[in-house]
Amino acid sequence: MMFTQFYGLKFNPFSKEIDSDQLYASQDLKELESRLKYLQQVRGIGLVAGEPGCGKTTALRRYVEELNPAHYKPCYFTLSTVTVLEFYQGLALALGEQPKNKKVALFHQIQGAIGSLYYERRITPVIVLDEIHLADSKVLEDLRLLFNFKMDSQNPFILILSGQSSIRNRLALNVNHPLRQRITAKYSMQGLKPEEVGDYCSSRLKNAGLHEEIFTPAALENIYSITHGLPRLVNNLATTCLICAYGKKLRQIDAEVVYQAQQELET
Ligand SMILES: Nc1ncnc2c1ncn2[C@@H]1O[C@H](COP(=O)(O)OP(=O)(O)O)[C@@H](O)[C@H]1O
Ligand SMILES: [Mg+2]
Repeated sequence: MMFTQFYGLKFNPFSKEIDSDQLYASQDLKELESRLKYLQQVRGIGLVAGEPGCGKTTALRRYVEELNPAHYKPCYFTLSTVTVLEFYQGLALALGEQPKNKKVALFHQIQGAIGSLYYERRITPVIVLDEIHLADSKVLEDLRLLFNFKMDSQNPFILILSGQSSIRNRLALNVNHPLRQRITAKYSMQGLKPEEVGDYCSSRLKNAGLHEEIFTPAALENIYSITHGLPRLVNNLATTCLICAYGKKLRQIDAEVVYQAQQELET
């Protein structure tokens, strides 16, 4: 028997996969979505920063999935899995081009494709560049050139840069000022607030079929202080709690179980 069966769960409620329509509507998520709505109106460059595991990729995935394909062309890239050239080529391909080999040619090609999508077909390309903190400085400089249209007088695109908070320090450097100045919307994700951790856990348990409060208030307080509300850390800790509590055939997860689970995760 697995812990899922013991608690009457259809699957592990705290696994990293989650459908976009089942996300917990945290304050963070709502604030980010309002910034993205604004960006959708003015277009140009947006920045999403935050600690690993705070929910950036999850939120952006939903944003992209919900765009109306009649008006937007979403293109999502993670810099951790592609090289710079692969990114430019992938972008050209996603925009419907047969990618050229040389960077300069590729740049013209990408700009041409963005321009014709927007000006001829009235479709705004929405390019999400995840894990941007991994990009080297050359890429940040490139982006400014690549997304410069009609001497910067127009924005026929939406470019969303997303990455760990360190990206803000890098953008603060003099060489990156031109790029930073072009950022029209930004948001730093903070993770869950202390009072949201309980609702977050309930919402994930409900998605998996359990409509019972199994974490005690003291347990939730403990979970917040250990994870600082970062959903990925909450997920790992909560899963370990379920496993520990199941081992002891406990229906409720109290502060003691959380403590034990933390010990287990640390070793
Ligand atoms: N709003 C949310 N509702 C439910 N689960 C979430 C939410 N935000 C994040 N998560 C969970 O937290 C995990 C980590 O989030 P992720 O978006 O990968 O963080 P980041 O990209 O900032 O490192 C996700 O796999 C998901 O399971
Ligand atoms: Mg991510």
